[in-house]
Amino acid sequence: MLCCGGTHNNTNILYVRILCCASWYRNTVNYAKKKSTDEINSMKRQRDDGTIIDAVEYDSSGMRGDDAQACVTAPSSSSANSTSKSDILSIAPMIQWTDRNWRYYMRLMTKKTWLYSEMIMDNALYFNPKRLDPFLGHDQSEQPLAIQLGGNDPMRLGEAVSLCESYACFSEINLNAGCPSNKAKKAGFGAELMLEPELVRQITHEMKRRATITDITVKCRIGVTGRESWDDLQEFVLACKSSGITKMIIHARSCVLKGLSPAQNRTIPPLHYEVVHRLVKTFPDMRFVLNGGITDFSTAKNHLGMVSDVKIFDSQQDLLPYVHGVMIGREAYNNPFLFQTADEEFYGDIHSSHLTRGAVLDKYLDYVEKAQQDQFFGSKTCLIAKPLHNIFHGCASNHLYKQKLDGLLIKYSTKIDKGEMEFREMVMQAVEDTIPPEFLNLKGPPGRTSILA
Ligand SMILES: Cc1cc2nc3c(=O)[nH]c(=O)nc-3n(C[C@H](O)[C@H](O)[C@H](O)COP(=O)(O)O)c2cc1C
Repeated sequence: MLCCGGTHNNTNILYVRILCCASWYRNTVNYAKKKSTDEINSMKRQRDDGTIIDAVEYDSSGMRGDDAQACVTAPSSSSANSTSKSDILSIAPMIQWTDRNWRYYMRLMTKKTWLYSEMIMDNALYFNPKRLDPFLGHDQSEQPLAIQLGGNDPMRLGEAVSLCESYACFSEINLNAGCPSNKAKKAGFGAELMLEPELVRQITHEMKRRATITDITVKCRIGVTGRESWDDLQEFVLACKSSGITKMIIHARSCVLKGLSPAQNRTIPPLHYEVVHRLVKTFPDMRFVLNGGITDFSTAKNHLGMVSDVKIFDSQQDLLPYVHGVMIGREAYNNPFLFQTADEEFYGDIHSSHLTRGAVLDKYLDYVEKAQQDQFFGSKTCLIAKPLHNIFHGCASNHLYKQKLDGLLIKYSTKIDKGEMEFREMVMQAVEDTIPPEFLNLKGPPGRTSILA
């Protein structure tokens, strides 16, 4: 049973299956308002203070021109409940995972799922305005791509927004107000921001003010130690709303500020999905993306109202509206092939290509070779090899493959300078020694392969 009033405690979600019309409208893919490349480029080149920025000033990755084209997918912030949102399904920002290599790899599985960067601290951009590639460099294929920023200083975060826009056209810039790390606690950013709605109002106000074309959004929890009531959450949402924020991503757990590690903070506090649904009801002119604990697409579709007979009620049997988007974190890196059917299932793209694991591996190795030639930040072996660790998730010998790969990576790192071993050769050796050839021909996540074969 669900109780949405007062506090979030002792609440559970109740799905009642009754036949009714499906809410298919969220399954519609429309790309938002199109801006011409010229218009975008000219906006990118001018900062708020009127300074003209050469769009190629920071360009060593060679992505910029295409980025402007990709920007046509960015939604307009003007209409919060527009049915044309392509962020119905997104992959969560995750430090040490959602870097450019991993995002490129995920794009081999899904072209449309909304991707987020790792959290980038405002200071990293603020103090390196002429060296943004390490933080913002990406491949055009990663679009739609959102950048997540961390910090607590309105002026610096505003400047960081401006620098992001000057660098490339991103689909969204998000403020992290949910990070439970010790560093965030000490420095007063991340989840700590939920203690200070007025500061968040100032930050988001400044971020909005400095953004010329990019949506500014906030990612937070349903509460934080000391501010866990429904009223507290409403106050926080109102603070964001008052500065013009129309989209929030809500991790449906409270954040415990003392005594839990970040990993524990992602598992121990109970999930209260109903709170996110209740926000949709309470703030009908905003959009809410639900996050936390979603590991399969059918659950995601239940929350989105894409399943015709699923209704969501609270404990008082009040019918709650569906959420506007669902964000998946850990399952995406554990089980990346889950996303092979995302374009079809969430965006109605029946032409989406389903590559076998062997083909994904091959294409990613092509990317590695190119990255090693280009030597961009992030092309170091340890970073570029990371996505390869979960490519055989679901295969009985996956752990053997990972062990073998790790062993070979150590050898490779010592031999690379001498040119004694190719990256591709090394990976294929690990694969051939451990993975049955038939597994290379599989598509989709384990157990779902039949629909894709
Ligand atoms: C390794 C790791 C790193 C994360 N880094 C970030 C981050 O940089 N910014 C952020 O807002 N959340 C971060 N998170 C939290 C996720 O975005 C997400 O909110 C959380 O994992 C819950 O979603 P899930 O249950 O689908 O994994 C991280 C989570 C993990 C596991």
